[in-house]
Amino acid sequence: MPSVNVRHARQALPHARPVVVQYRPTDASGGPISRPAPDPLQSQLHLIQRFTILTCASLARRLHSPMKSAAQPNFDTAAFRLALGEFATGVTIITTRAESGQLIGITASSFNSVSLAPPLVLWSLAKRASSMTVFEANTHYVVNVLAASQLALCRRFATLKGDRFAGVAHAAGDTGMPILDGALAWFECHNRSRYDEGDHVIFVGEVERCGVTGDAREPLVFHRGGFHTVDPLG
Ligand SMILES: Cc1cc2nc3c(=O)[nH]c(=O)nc-3n(C[C@H](O)[C@H](O)[C@H](O)COP(=O)(O)O)c2cc1C
Repeated sequence: MPSVNVRHARQALPHARPVVVQYRPTDASGGPISRPAPDPLQSQLHLIQRFTILTCASLARRLHSPMKSAAQPNFDTAAFRLALGEFATGVTIITTRAESGQLIGITASSFNSVSLAPPLVLWSLAKRASSMTVFEANTHYVVNVLAASQLALCRRFATLKGDRFAGVAHAAGDTGMPILDGALAWFECHNRSRYDEGDHVIFVGEVERCGVTGDAREPLVFHRGGFHTVDPLG
């Protein structure tokens, strides 16, 4: 059978219309072959088979997605800390009141904004922290943003084993949780959700109240494992 070069044929007959050929199967005598009516059970089985194959394929894709199969790190914890330390952060003290009435607070630099509407923030707490059970159970906590002049408070709430609030000026906010005097800003949060990740739990708080002191004091900045404040560039 001679072969047809489609491109040459198109060039030779630019206005030719495509021919639609209908195929009707016939038997040896030329009569039409009647097809048996489709079996409904067979069609359903076919659908179930297709569904199963597609679901398995999608599950396999998910299991092999990049999120689930990170390569082993090629660095140790010290190198990781060093790299993280290049990211300058502010410093906060997260405070809450246990059901017993005991005031709890910890220094945290993991604070960050999440969403404007609804107003959401996050921070993370080490699983080994003794305050974990209280922060997990309480409905509310406050994120207090520290001024550079509050470095002593930052150290106190990171290291002291006894009552961290002894002699520390504070007042209850609308949610009843303690707000530290002199904080540059504060966010009273509803304990909205928590995510268990690695050796920390990520807390997402829905901000019910917030405020700023509004004075010109500099913020406390944590960078390369040390404390600083900001110098304007301009
Ligand atoms: C600058 C700075 C930032 C810190 N940030 C965090 C943090 O984000 N999350 C955390 O779990 N611990 C953080 N820590 C350590 C806690 O403040 C410290 O472990 C605290 O004593 C935990 O208290 P607890 O064991 O009484 O709950 C930070 C410490 C410092 C000095």
